[in-house]
Parts: sequence; structure tokens; C-alpha cells
Amino acid sequence: MNSCSVLFVCLGNICRSPTAHGVFVHKVQLLGLQNCVSTDSAGTAAYHVGNPPDRRSSSAAAARGYDLSQLRARQALTEDFHHFDYILAMDESNLFDLQQIAPSDAKAELKLFLDYAPNLSITEVPDPYYGGSDGFDQVLDLVEEAADGLLDVIKLRLGS
Ligand code: 4NP
Repeated sequence: MNSCSVLFVCLGNICRSPTAHGVFVHKVQLLGLQNCVSTDSAGTAAYHVGNPPDRRSSSAAAARGYDLSQLRARQALTEDFHHFDYILAMDESNLFDLQQIAPSDAKAELKLFLDYAPNLSITEVPDPYYGGSDGFDQVLDLVEEAADGLLDVIKLRLGS
């Protein structure tokens, strides 16, 4: 069976990328593709390794029916470029940091996540960590749209 793997990456792996992870897994399950699509998330920095998502991200996600409670932060690794088909950065800074650890023989396609939401007026998912609660809802809005765009591409790739 065809399969596909996706790694979402932000700075701390406690706000944006776990939100993308939880939203994407939920949508994969709704499509019945959970046996074909594997998902993970990571941070470029190690500040929060082992921690659950930020409470503000978890509660904004829970209000829309997404469960982030099982997720724990880890740091992105060079090996990830050999294991994943897609590595998707939340902003340009994350993308730059990932380019610094990418091996020359990477299998992964490294892109900005919002490349899959071309109708949006912005290209990066803004970091909500130091802002108010609106920022966490905005992350969800952006991530939901890009997850749908990514799934359209993956469905074609899987032929389903
Ligand atoms: P994230 O947000 O990259 O979306 O997980 C942040 C989380 C923590 C910090 C910065 C951004 N921090 O500086 O600790």
C-alpha cells in the first residue's frame, strides 16, 4: 500500500506545530487514511523537549474538537530528512534553521506549510507564544486551511 509521512516543524514544538499535528491527524482520520499517512511534529529549538503543548494551544484546539493531549515536544533532527516525505515549516525562520540541518541526500520535501494554502494573504503561521488568545485561533484558522490543501495533494499521491 502507498504511504506518506509528514513532519510539522515550528520553533518550540508547543504551539504551532502540535496544533498542525493534531488538526492534520484529525482530518486524516476523517478520511480513513490513518493506516497510510503518518504524522509527527518537532521544534527547531530544544527549549521545551518532553513538554506537552502550551495550554493555550490545547484549549483553543479542544474548542474545535482537536485533541493535543498526547503530544510531547521533541527537536527536529537531520535523520528526519531521511524518514519523512514532507517536512513543513511554520515560518521562514524555521525553514532556514531546517535547511541548516538538512543532509545533501534528503528524501523529504522541505517547504513552508502555508504553501498548501495559496489563497491566504500570508505565507507564514505567526508565532502566538507572546501574544493574546486571538493568536491561537488564528493559528487554527491557517492550519485548517493548509491541512486541507496538503491532504488534496496527498490523496492524489496515494491514489485515493
Ligand atoms: P511555537 O511557539 O514555535 O509555535 O511552539 C513558541 C514556543 C516557545 C517559545 C517560542 C515560540 N519560546 O521562546 O519558548
